[in-house]
Amino acid sequence: MIVNSREMLQQAKKGHYAVPHFNINNLEWTKYILEECQTLQIPVILGVSEGAARYMGGFHVVTMLIKGLVQDLGITIPVCIHLDHGKSVEVCVEAIRAGFTSVMIDASMLSLEENITKTKQVVDYAKKYDVTVEAEIGRVGGSEDGVADQIYYAKLEDCKRLYEATNIDSLAPALGSVHGLYHGEPKLDFETMKQIDDALPIPLVLHGGTGIPAEQIQKAIFSGISKININTELQITWSKAVRNYLKENDVVYDPRKIIGSGELAMKKKIREIVQIFQTR
Ligand code: 13P
Repeated sequence: MIVNSREMLQQAKKGHYAVPHFNINNLEWTKYILEECQTLQIPVILGVSEGAARYMGGFHVVTMLIKGLVQDLGITIPVCIHLDHGKSVEVCVEAIRAGFTSVMIDASMLSLEENITKTKQVVDYAKKYDVTVEAEIGRVGGSEDGVADQIYYAKLEDCKRLYEATNIDSLAPALGSVHGLYHGEPKLDFETMKQIDDALPIPLVLHGGTGIPAEQIQKAIFSGISKININTELQITWSKAVRNYLKENDVVYDPRKIIGSGELAMKKKIREIVQIFQTR
């Protein structure tokens, strides 16, 4: 069932667990994630950056790919098709027109006022199609889609202002997480996280889920996080398995065997991640 993220995230917020957002890049990853989440009987958010969508051919390819897999594999869990880090109003509109059920407008690099203006434009458009909108405040560190960023911690007052002015469905307040690998221990600001959660009625999102120790992930969930984004961890898991397979099978050339050699490791990693997100 293809849905927006509203219901699944509100339930997660109530139940103190997190819905996984896994980034996808191709047919095989999408299939493995859907199959494993169906086996686990949990809702899932398939995150697609603009770069990943263009890599696959475009936003229509992504929605048709996911819809086709859901139908042919008999997937019955709630599945959300989500634009990750939409950098402009135009790209959010493009994704919505192609059938995405959820978008993130990431105007966090702009001033608060400009962030509000752009986010509001996306919310006004998305509402007509019952598409949910995530926004970001502060700055997630590290690099994604080749763009490197410094960490800026979100401020409670700015989060309140953004929410009240835009009526977004979820908020990603950057509170010390980074995209990609951490250099040293992550330093998440749980206190501000909890204050934002107490002040806003909407679910909060944690970007840069890779490399955050399990106890910190669970502490974040109990501080208001209902959606956690994971990308790098699956990339590392999959590529390690494929590299080992190629080392042991140096004459193999069937792409199904090569790409598929990462399937079991990826599914195992998904199970481990989901278990941490369940907090039970
Ligand atoms: P990681 O690559 O660090 O897991 O972060 C993913 C993410 O936040 C996507 O938006």
